[in-house]
Amino acid sequence: MEFKTELEKYQEKINKELEKNLRKKPCLEQVLNQSMEYSLMAGGKRLRPILVLATYELLSKESNEKVCMPYAVAIEMVHNFSLIHDDLPGIDNDDFRHGKPTNHKQFNEATAILAGDGLLNNAYMVMSQDIQETKNPEELQAKTRIFCEFSSAVDRMIAGEYIDTECEGKRITIEELEYIHQNKTGALLTLCVRMGAILAKCEEEDLKNITKYSEKIGLAFQVKDDILSEEGDSKELGKPVGNDKERQKCTYVSQYGLAGAKDILETLTEEAVKCLDKYGEKATFLKQLAIYIANRRK
Ligand code: IPE
Ligand code: IPE
Ligand code: MG
Ligand code: MG
Repeated sequence: MEFKTELEKYQEKINKELEKNLRKKPCLEQVLNQSMEYSLMAGGKRLRPILVLATYELLSKESNEKVCMPYAVAIEMVHNFSLIHDDLPGIDNDDFRHGKPTNHKQFNEATAILAGDGLLNNAYMVMSQDIQETKNPEELQAKTRIFCEFSSAVDRMIAGEYIDTECEGKRITIEELEYIHQNKTGALLTLCVRMGAILAKCEEEDLKNITKYSEKIGLAFQVKDDILSEEGDSKELGKPVGNDKERQKCTYVSQYGLAGAKDILETLTEEAVKCLDKYGEKATFLKQLAIYIANRRK
């Protein structure tokens, strides 16, 4: 199947799954539920849940991707929580995302803060429900491991966001910059790949190997985000361009220049693809996904 078609098929599948988790019933907090839905269904690329499913498919001997769904949904909820809070006036103060007003612009700041909190907690509700329903001891153990890794990765994302915000306008070392990116963005992407692999009951060696792949694409993803903030097309991106510079953010572009950042992106992408060589044809989609991350325009 052509890469683009496969990507769209995944996106459709995930959107359907997310739909099942929306709260539509009239109630006093209806607007809060609408604001959560507004961000969750705004048209994200669904890269994180796709990584869960595609890694599972690469490493599992069974083909029961249903087992991944609660975790695919949960990670997309947390991702959207992170975006809502990232856009708030106290953090990046951005007005547009996915080509629409950001959550606090569409609703208000209090609603946006609480919608973020709600999505974060909903993620844990979806996972804990699934864990409660799991009877097979081996599967239960795998899911408990995932639950622990999930909460640690969210902790890292929050830490990364904190340092990113605190470092605005400051001079930092290359090591510190890498630390920010690995935490604020890399941690969740690595989590996705590891969740797929653990659910696939793969060997520890494969887990190690696929984790290495995820670390490369995790960093590459944020380096590309830095590049797009410099030279992307805001219409195509659906979010502002030039905002990193305006807020004097520490990025790969501010540190290495545009050409330097692009070289690093290329190297990271090549290294990511190489991590999958031993899986042959079966890994084609994940290899193409690494290349897509580097070439994406949104
Ligand atoms: C944007 O992530 C935030 C970063 C971690 C750089 P995505 O570009 O994956 O967000 P959507 O969901 O596809 O808009
Ligand atoms: C976002 O980083 C990372 C998280 C939300 C965790 P950025 O602030 O660089 O991402 P965009 O450019 O606003 O999407
Ligand atoms: Mg930010
Ligand atoms: Mg931002």
